[in-house]
Amino acid sequence: MAEALVSRLQHFSVDVADVDRSIEFYREFLDMKLTERHAAHECPNIPVELAFMRVGDVHHDFVLTHNPEKTYTKKTGLPQDDLEGPPSFHHFAFECPDRESWLKLLQRAKDMNLNIVRGPVVHSPFDPRGDGSWGENEACYVMDPDNHRIEIFCDMATIDSDGVYVNAKGERLEEARVTEL
Ligand SMILES: [Fe+2]
Repeated sequence: MAEALVSRLQHFSVDVADVDRSIEFYREFLDMKLTERHAAHECPNIPVELAFMRVGDVHHDFVLTHNPEKTYTKKTGLPQDDLEGPPSFHHFAFECPDRESWLKLLQRAKDMNLNIVRGPVVHSPFDPRGDGSWGENEACYVMDPDNHRIEIFCDMATIDSDGVYVNAKGERLEEARVTEL
């Protein structure tokens, strides 16, 4: 198999109805910082407002876009209610470095009265705490001010060189194996 020429999925950009509101939300909930913000048409070929945000030292992990010419409507919150329209995305996810951080973030979501639409849940068909879903991680899902679904998670499985899953404790789950190496 050819060697992958990309190393990882990195930033994600979402369209938002109100850039100020979203900047404040992501600052408060995820401790993001604003790196740069630019108006629409500041660059001739960029017709949208952009706010580059970061959680670490990389210029941006997350980008807010806003089209001042667009009439925004309310995004359907739940996928089962999203019955017509162009293909979009389901959710994006932020990883916590450990379970302790994840629990603190879950508490923060509650303190902020965010709409927790799923979880907390252990995604696992193998862990006795699991709900039968996939990925070997612990997660919850909350809505941002535009009803974009944010997943926060910790402890996702890694894949050993022979395809066997390894959980966050470093244990190989011999019954779990990827279909493509
Ligand atoms: Fe996910």
